[in-house]
Formats: sequence, structure tokens, C-alpha cells
Amino acid sequence: MRIDVLSLFPEMFTGVFETSILKKASDLGAVSYHVTNFRDFADNKHKTVDDYPYGGGAGMVLKPQPVFDAVDALTVGKKPRVILLCPQGEVHSQQKAEELSQEDHLLFICGHYEGYDERIREHIVTDEISIGDYVLTGGELAAMVVIDSVVRLLPGVLGNEDSPVQDSFSNGGLLEHPHYTRPADFRGMKVPEVLTSGHHENIQEWRERESLNRTISRRPELLEKARLTDRQKKWLEEQKKQ
Ligand code: ADE
Repeated sequence: MRIDVLSLFPEMFTGVFETSILKKASDLGAVSYHVTNFRDFADNKHKTVDDYPYGGGAGMVLKPQPVFDAVDALTVGKKPRVILLCPQGEVHSQQKAEELSQEDHLLFICGHYEGYDERIREHIVTDEISIGDYVLTGGELAAMVVIDSVVRLLPGVLGNEDSPVQDSFSNGGLLEHPHYTRPADFRGMKVPEVLTSGHHENIQEWRERESLNRTISRRPELLEKARLTDRQKKWLEEQKKQ
């Protein structure tokens, strides 16, 4: 996968792309990152990329020209998914990350200022993504979140130990069960006995039940789309009756 990022602050990405799993992914050749400062494409003497809004009002608007020219230059002969980060976009999800991980080229546009000239949205962008209902100072942090969620899904990037199959949201759409590691007794706080019993079937049942209970208490709205096991369906029915 090739990932292009258009940003006025390319230096924000260096630490993220050069650390941990995102770095491992590029070392493996699963992904390559290319960050471009689209100010370099501004065709005016002062290299300005923003301007006053038509009709008046507060704040500045990102001009179409530098963005169109940068996208043209980076996509000659290619048709990437072009993702605009903004609070108005669809809220990011594991499902969206899985969808994007199937592509071979993604281009992220990170804006600042009050907004983007609407023609950028209409003529270049294929997807608008928000990472939540709050306002950031720019799209960079949001792009990093989306990129992280996509790159870890690329084949070979996660070893078996941290396989994405068991993640919250991949786990039948339920939250994950609790995890414990050694020691079995830490300052008098004990690991649930079933986990140290070595009885795999009982452990599996305990995990399915904890996963269901945790979802019911923390994120009940996830149950609507969850893919429950037969016994989870039964437990849920029992809970509803009570
Ligand atoms: N830009 C500013 N706020 C944002 C958000 N919540 N998600 C994505 N991009 C943004």
C-alpha cells in the first residue's frame, strides 16, 4: 500500500511513521509513507494556502489551487481513495479501517483553518472521515489515527501474538474479555481461578461471557450488530427475561 499525506505540518508525522508497528510495516515493505507539504504547490509569491470566505464571516478557508495541484502531481496515472479529515465526515470505525486496508493507494488531506473550499470536497475527495464528535486544530492527528488503524491490518504486519482477529470490534463486534498475566496473586488481587485451571473449554466459555457482560454494561448499542455465539444468545435472552 502507498500512503500519501498532504499537510502543512509534515514534521508531525515523522515520529509516528518511524515508531513501532507503523515503522515495522514500512520496513517489511507492506506500506510506504509519503508526506507532502502542499504549501510547496501554492502558485502565489507569498505561498499562501488560505483566503477569506466569500460572503464574509470568521476564519479562513483553504484555497482549492494548492490542493488540486498537489493531488494532480501525486496521482498521475493513479486513482487513489482520497480521504478528507474533518468533523463533518462519517465517524471512523473498524469496518471502515478494514475497507480501506483493501486499497493499494490512500491519499489523506489534512486541513487547518475554518474549512475547505467546497470544490475540494466535490471534485477530489472520495471519503470524508471524522475521528469523533470534537474539534481538533487540524486533520493531522485524525489522519494518524486512521492510518494506524489501517496499517496494522495489512497482511504480515502483526505477528500471531497480537493478531487483529481477537480485537474489540473484530471479536464478533463485542468488546474484549479481561486479560491477566502472571503472577496469579498480585498484592492479594487474584486472577480468576478458571484462567489458571488449564481447562480450555471453561476458559473459552468464561471469555465469551465476560465479553458479553462487558459489552452490555459499557456499550450496549454494539449488541445490535454483534455476531453472538449460541451460548451468548442464550445468556442475553436470560438477562432480558430477568
Ligand atoms: N479536523 C478537526 N476535527 C476533526 C475530527 N474530529 N476528525 C477529523 N478531522 C478533524
